[in-house]
Amino acid sequence: MSKNNKKLESLVRPEIRAMSAYHVPEATGLVKLDAMENPFAWPIEMKEEWLQLLSDAEPNRYPDPSAKELVASLRHCFGVPSELGVVLGNGSDELIQLILMAMHQGASIMAPTPSFVMYRHIATSLSLPFVSVPLNGDFSLDVPTMISEIERHDPAVIFLAYPNNPTANLFHDEDIRAILNAANGLVVIDEAYQPFARKSFLNRVSEHENLIVLRTVSKLGLAGLRLGFLVGHNNLTDDLEKIRLPYNINIFTQLTATFAFKHMDVLDGQAAILCNQRERLLKKLSSLSVVRVFPSEANFILFSLLSDSAERVFEELKEAGVLIKKMGHVPGLPDECLRVTVGTRSENDLFFEKIGSILK
Ligand SMILES: Cc1ncc(COP(=O)(O)O)c(C=O)c1O
Repeated sequence: MSKNNKKLESLVRPEIRAMSAYHVPEATGLVKLDAMENPFAWPIEMKEEWLQLLSDAEPNRYPDPSAKELVASLRHCFGVPSELGVVLGNGSDELIQLILMAMHQGASIMAPTPSFVMYRHIATSLSLPFVSVPLNGDFSLDVPTMISEIERHDPAVIFLAYPNNPTANLFHDEDIRAILNAANGLVVIDEAYQPFARKSFLNRVSEHENLIVLRTVSKLGLAGLRLGFLVGHNNLTDDLEKIRLPYNINIFTQLTATFAFKHMDVLDGQAAILCNQRERLLKKLSSLSVVRVFPSEANFILFSLLSDSAERVFEELKEAGVLIKKMGHVPGLPDECLRVTVGTRSENDLFFEKIGSILK
């Protein structure tokens, strides 16, 4: 290694050098059931109206830095209480980063495990110690352990994904309340899968100064836009606004999201179809005696194989043209777990047909 290379490497913090980049598998030509996307296109009239709108956009100009029109329509569409603040992110990933960037150096961050991998990834990238508390066997929160870990580490931020990824369940209301009451720091309830669970803490933010609700439009059908938002008390959102990069929401996202929110009936209708498909797929998968299926309140299903290798089944499904997600060895998950996103009826049928014959 040259002297220069060595010097460049030594500039980067060792914890970052030890990290792996977030891996997104190649999906060309495959039925994509790996990333919790909405599989449906827009009705043709809606698409034409949207393209017309985009043709008036001015890519030579910077976007509105505070995305006023988008924020107003989002507040209306999602029923954000007027006394609360909203911060927009380039995906909710960016908001997780923004929250953590605002914390004191050395502040610890807590989340149950397994949960969304970006909580740990971003905390590590910012050199913030990460405390994970295993979920109970039924994937509920282990409240006594969480409370004793809160007392021990006094975390600045606790993340709770509601429903949780990758387990797909909603935590019990009273457990979340207990965490909220025990925490001195922020509690971020990440409602990425709210369109499929239809339960929310948004109306409780006003009651709890330390509560932030995080949402994304990705799972609703707008993953390509990269738009997330958080709702919290104004003193907090005002501080987060100071470190949000001024033009993080580009003009195409601002226009498209504002347009899409006027057609929420279409997006809600698609989510309702996916909820029906989820129930259908849950039933079908449960009929396979070699599979253990976990309940789901999201647009994906976690299941484990009782007598087969998840790696082998994943690879054979891919070979058969269907991409799902292999969970690897995630602490707190049973062995041999896989996660499938709920797709269209024909995608789900294809997945079920292929996995049925692989498991025979
Ligand atoms: C729980 C949870 N939160 C946040 C995200 C990130 O969503 P976004 O596309 O808005 O960055 C995901 C994505 O899978 C997720 O599972």
